Formats: sequence, C-alpha cells, structure tokens
Amino acid sequence: MTDIPRDEHLESSLALLGEGYPFIRDRCQRLHSNLFQTRLLMQNTICLSGQEAARLFYDERYLQRDKAMPRMLKKTLIGEGGVQGLDGEAHRQRKRMFMQLLDSAAVDEVVRLTEQGWCRAIDEWQARSDIELMSEVQSIFTDSVCRWAGVPLPSAELPERRDQLVAMIDGAGGIGARHWAARKARREAEIWLQQLIKQARSGELQAAPTTALMVVAHHRNLDGSRLDSRVAAVELLNLLRPTVAVSYFIIYGALELLAHPQWRERLRSDDAMLEPFAQEVRRLHAFFPFTAARVREGFEWQGYHFPAGTRVMLDLWGTNREASRWSEPDAFQPERFVDWQDNAFSFVTQGGGDPAEGHRCPGERLAIELLKVALRTLTREMEYAVPAQDLRIDLTRMPAKPQSGLLISDVKRLAG
Ligand code: HEM
Repeated sequence: MTDIPRDEHLESSLALLGEGYPFIRDRCQRLHSNLFQTRLLMQNTICLSGQEAARLFYDERYLQRDKAMPRMLKKTLIGEGGVQGLDGEAHRQRKRMFMQLLDSAAVDEVVRLTEQGWCRAIDEWQARSDIELMSEVQSIFTDSVCRWAGVPLPSAELPERRDQLVAMIDGAGGIGARHWAARKARREAEIWLQQLIKQARSGELQAAPTTALMVVAHHRNLDGSRLDSRVAAVELLNLLRPTVAVSYFIIYGALELLAHPQWRERLRSDDAMLEPFAQEVRRLHAFFPFTAARVREGFEWQGYHFPAGTRVMLDLWGTNREASRWSEPDAFQPERFVDWQDNAFSFVTQGGGDPAEGHRCPGERLAIELLKVALRTLTREMEYAVPAQDLRIDLTRMPAKPQSGLLISDVKRLAG
C-alpha cells in the first residue's frame, strides 16, 4: 500500500483561502493524482477530485456526513440538525420530505411565480436608470419561494428577509465581517421561521396542508416525534435560501450572454438550446466549490488507506472540469450538452449520485428551470445596456460573483 500524496504545506487553510476554487484541482494536477492529503482547519483532510473519486465519495458504505461539515459552514450556510448532516435511514426519511416537496408540480409553481416576478420587475426597471441585477433577482426569488412555501412575507419585510438569505450564502466562505454577518443573518432567520413553525402547529397561522411550511411543521422523525422547532426552521431555510442562491447562476448566465453575444441571438430563436446553455453555465460556475464527508471505518481504495474518522473533501468545481472527461474543460461550449448522457458523477455542481438515496441536491431541476426562465427573459422579453463596470470574477472569493452585482440600464420591454 502506498501513502496518499501529501500537499507541501503543513496547514493549508491559508492556501485554500488564497487560491480559492482551483485549490484542489491544481494540487491534483501537480501531484498527478486524483487525491491528496493535507491539513485543513486544523484537521487531517483527504481531498478528492474527478469522476471516480466522486463515485467513492457518494458510497455511503465508506463515507458518512455526521460531524463532516466545518463548524463555520454550520453556523452560516447550512445550520445545525438539518438533512445535510444525517446518515442512513434517518437521512433517507428526511430526504423523502424534500424530494416530495420539490416535485415537478412545485417546480412548475415556483417557475410560474418567478415569471410573474420578472414581468413586474421589467415594468419597474423601465422607469429606472441603474439596476443591480443580482439583488433584483434575489428579491424576485425571495418573494416567489416564500409565496410557494406558504411563508407570509409582507412586501415591507421583503428586503430584510432577502438580505438575511443572501448573507448566509454570501458569507459562507468568508472570514471576518462577512462571516459574522452570515452568522447573525442565520440566527435572525431561524428565529423568524421557528416562530412561524410554532404558529403553524398551533393553528394560529393557516396555510394549505401541502405547503412547505405545513409539511415541514408537521414532519415526523423516524421515532414518530415532530422535528424540534429550531430544526424545522433549519429545514425550511434549506428550501428558501438555496432558491435565492440560484441568483448566482442567473448572473453567470447573464455574463456568459455578454461574453458570447451570438448566443443571445441563438437563445432567442431556439428553445432547444436553453437547457444546454443553462447546463454549461452550471458546469462552469459551481459556486459552492467543495462538499465534505468523513470516513466511516478505515478502508482501502486504489491502493491507498483511508483512516477512520478522517475528513474527506470532494472538489465539485474541479470535477466538472476534469480534462479526461470534458474536452476543452474551461471553455464555454453549451453544445456539449446537446446529446449529453446524464452521468451522476462527472457533473456535480449540485452533488453526485442519486438525490433520493444520497446527499445530492434535491433542488437541481428547480435551479435549471429558474435559470432557463431567466435566460428566456433576458434574451426575449427585454433589452438592456450594460454600463462600464468591473465584471472580473475573483476566484479566491467564495462564493464568487462580480463585485457590482451586474449593473444594467436602459431596460426596454420587447414586444412579444
Ligand atoms: C443555487 C443552486 C444550487 C446549488 C449550487 C446547490 C448545490 C448543492 C450542493 C453542492 C449540495 C450538497 C451535495 C453534497 O453534499 O453531496 C446541495 C444539497 C442540498 N440542496 Fe442544493 N443547490 C442549489 C439549489 C438548491 C435548491 C433550489 C434547493 C431547494 C429549493 C436546494 C436544496 C438542497 C438541500 C435540501 C440539500 C441537502 C441534501 C442532502 O443533504 O441530502 N438546493 N445543494
């Protein structure tokens, strides 16, 4: 048995912060290996990249999620006690709730609500000079997902709740002020939703029994008990927050349209290309770059020993760009998705494997459809100018985004 190749740094946390998204892929390339070991956040960590490594990562015989996520992510992005940290039957049972809530009728409904939101927004944008597209889209998504979920949100409260949801996402990979803002936002949002869960349980708040608010409020654990109200708030946030996070894909989609104007024309006339374009945006812009698990019991893989309890990090960003699976992996080529055979482990922006069985994201179809609505709207429903601004993406900032939030101006509705 050989030793897993080792990164040259004794502790790589600073290197990770300094290098950002390509951290794992670059080391794998340097070491000619699809794995290496290092110390991250003061713990021995095995980093994995590529399709075969992703297949291993999602094999629950070897890896589990209990105590896998770094504390800084639990305090900001994902919360504590939610589906992300469960294993085995407890996970599958909780996950069924998410899979049922996010069925195709739910996707259609959220899509319908956002289409209405875009339509109202265009009317309003026509009368304004500079528009920050990212925060506008975040408002549309906050409003739509709360309506769908049965979460009452008076319009005066919308900016505050939007900013809380955004802060949890934006602060996930941050340190200092960004991290503390995300923690505060999570605390406040959990209190807000915990209150609503209690009201839903007592009957003080009425909503249809099929709404996400009611389903989560009345969901039962394996032992028949109801979710702790704080955990229920975490799970409700697991529906609201990531829907707002789809705004990152929208901005990346708008940037790709800007960089490849021929695609604006093509999307206007060819419905069939919306999905390949959306998939290519998602492949290149895996804005949550890594996910984490822990070795259940020691095992061997490809001649290497994985010791029990070691943290394992899977490179989502780099797996999507694995040179042996994707031709010209860094190039934007939507055509590659035209006859694409779905592969559960090579395209992992939202995780790999089977979402019903493992931890792959249950909101993937929703994210794709929301991106397609945005692409359709940006190319067919409106015209706009993009004033001079710095649109560079800093890959050391996670999640990455253009600093300006993408300013647009001179919005005109196109006659349909
Ligand atoms: C914005 C685009 C999105 C991205 C980039 C994204 C990405 C991810 C990733 C990387 C995971 C973890 C996979 C793993 O650890 O193996 C995940 C899990 C999850 N996502 Fe998403 N997601 C997105 C949208 C959504 C949406 C729209 C929803 C629901 C409305 C959602 C709900 C969840 C939930 C509940 C989990 C936990 C699943 C589990 O642990 O079993 N996500 N997502």
